[in-house]
Amino acid sequence: MQVSTQIPHTRQRLPVLEQRTSRRRFARYALFGLLGAFTATSAIATYRMLYPNKVAGFGAKVAAGTVQDITALLNGQKYVRNSEGHFYILPGVGDGAIAAYWRCVHLGCTVPPPNPALEGNIQCPCHGSLYNGKTGALIHGPATRPLDYFPMTVENGNVTIDTGRIITRQDYESSQATRLG
Ligand code: FES
Repeated sequence: MQVSTQIPHTRQRLPVLEQRTSRRRFARYALFGLLGAFTATSAIATYRMLYPNKVAGFGAKVAAGTVQDITALLNGQKYVRNSEGHFYILPGVGDGAIAAYWRCVHLGCTVPPPNPALEGNIQCPCHGSLYNGKTGALIHGPATRPLDYFPMTVENGNVTIDTGRIITRQDYESSQATRLG
């Protein structure tokens, strides 16, 4: 009796036509998969652009710190600088603080914080506009109005500044300030 040395095929070979169809199907699925992944990534990016995180950097809501910390800084150095949100929290006059956008309203230079050598006022380094260091009100030009400001909210002892809403004004009014206490 002759013994066969060939290892028996465990799988049957697919006919050529079926193999091609199978490869084509695989390529199609891969393409759909890639398109799906691309669409999902684009959708997520668009969503993040339209609905930014609740607390983020400039252009969104910025966590400015606790009431306690901010009050301590306002009592000490008389302002709080927030580089992430591009603003200074100024002590205001009387009851309440104000978050002033640090962009000079004349031609857009960044203004420095209140300067003790200038009676605590803010002077733009570009053309010399002078702003009140407590409120951001205009003292003299060439700027023609006060520094813009952002809405401020206090919740559970934390202060949030909405840098997505720049508010322009012609003068300082107490309603622009927010009570921290
Ligand atoms: S940009 Fe500030 S005074 Fe001109």
